[in-house]
Amino acid sequence: LKVAVLASGRGSNLAALVAARDAGALPVEMVLVGSDKASAGALRLAEAAHIPTLALNPKDYPDRPSFDRALFAHVAASGTELLVLAGFMRVIDAAVVAQWEGRAINIHPSLLPKYPGLHTHRRCLEAGDTEHGASVHYVTAELDGGPVVAQARIPVGPGDTEASLAERLLAEEHRLLPAVVGAIARGRLRWNGEAMFDGRPVT
Ligand code: GRF
Repeated sequence: LKVAVLASGRGSNLAALVAARDAGALPVEMVLVGSDKASAGALRLAEAAHIPTLALNPKDYPDRPSFDRALFAHVAASGTELLVLAGFMRVIDAAVVAQWEGRAINIHPSLLPKYPGLHTHRRCLEAGDTEHGASVHYVTAELDGGPVVAQARIPVGPGDTEASLAERLLAEEHRLLPAVVGAIARGRLRWNGEAMFDGRPVT
């Protein structure tokens, strides 16, 4: 399965995918790592892993949709079959997202549908939740709103802070994302208008 990753930051989730691939646990070909930030650590990781990279600067485009169209044209040109958003900090134009329905997933650091958007650890603490987690979902025009495919859960303790939650959760994300990408690569998770796992709708 040809996989592209879009990331805006350090790329620890990308690193987890590359590690799983290198360990022979993930039957994927990484065809591109793209970013909206030329300084993204994810691009350095990709270079070190000999994965083609692309950085487009939003300032070079007159508006958001034209940036998104340009970036996704490169994703399509790379032969990508599955697009993984991993720390990609942009809301993508709905028309562009529509072309990737069923072929794009995102990992989000909350137990969706709780806390779509930003600052999820802080919101979890402020709400006094005793559980937190991460979700992998198919990307739709609704921000962090597509069908959730899988979640990882962690307990929230009294001494937890945003930083301690982020750290513990990231370790879970690094397990969860490769597991979902692997399920798709092995044909166990499919999209035929809705997310299906082993032929059963993902509830
Ligand atoms: C992670 O918390 C991930 O859930 C979110 O972006 C954060 C950074 O990810 N999507 P990474 O370390 O850049 O992969």
